[in-house]
Amino acid sequence: MNPNKALWEKGDFTRIAESMRESGEALVKSLGITKGLKVLDLGCGDGTMALPEAKLGADVLGVDIAKNLVEAGNKRAQEHGLTNCKFQEGDASNLHELKDQTFDLVVSIFGAMFAPKPFDVANEMARVTRPGGLRRMPRPMRMQAGVHRTFNVRYGLA
Ligand SMILES: C[S@@+](CC[C@H](N)C(=O)[O-])C[C@H]1O[C@@H](n2cnc3c(N)ncnc32)[C@H](O)[C@@H]1O
Repeated sequence: MNPNKALWEKGDFTRIAESMRESGEALVKSLGITKGLKVLDLGCGDGTMALPEAKLGADVLGVDIAKNLVEAGNKRAQEHGLTNCKFQEGDASNLHELKDQTFDLVVSIFGAMFAPKPFDVANEMARVTRPGGLRRMPRPMRMQAGVHRTFNVRYGLA
């Protein structure tokens, strides 16, 4: 099994995520989400960000490498009555199940930064973002292993 996947499935990140719901909601409010926006949340966990994104009207797909967190996310979305928020398993460094230029906004909050091949992640994020769309992730990932350069120079991010 992919060791990255094995690592994240070993624990129960939901126990930590429970303490981050408020900050997740606050952060999502700063993303400028509007109704109908197609959002990909990469390394979404159980949806700390994805659920608030959907509550603001976005059409959200959460992708995470850990099966248990994908299941927890879908359960939480259902409990909140959010039919516009789906979770599925996937590896941020190879999103082969997603078509090119699909999303208006691709976000990853302390998620895809854990993937071992950061340049592949950067390329995949760019590939699935529609022309004129946005990609957002915290600075630590952009700084990691030169990904800062990949994002700022190759893809023109601020
Ligand atoms: C610190 S948690 C953050 C989860 C969520 N973004 C949040 O803010 O609550 C990191 C997440 O990244 C996921 N992850 C790690 N490596 C990944 C990869 N290669 N592809 C997709 N998800 C990955 C983990 O399973 C975990 O859910």
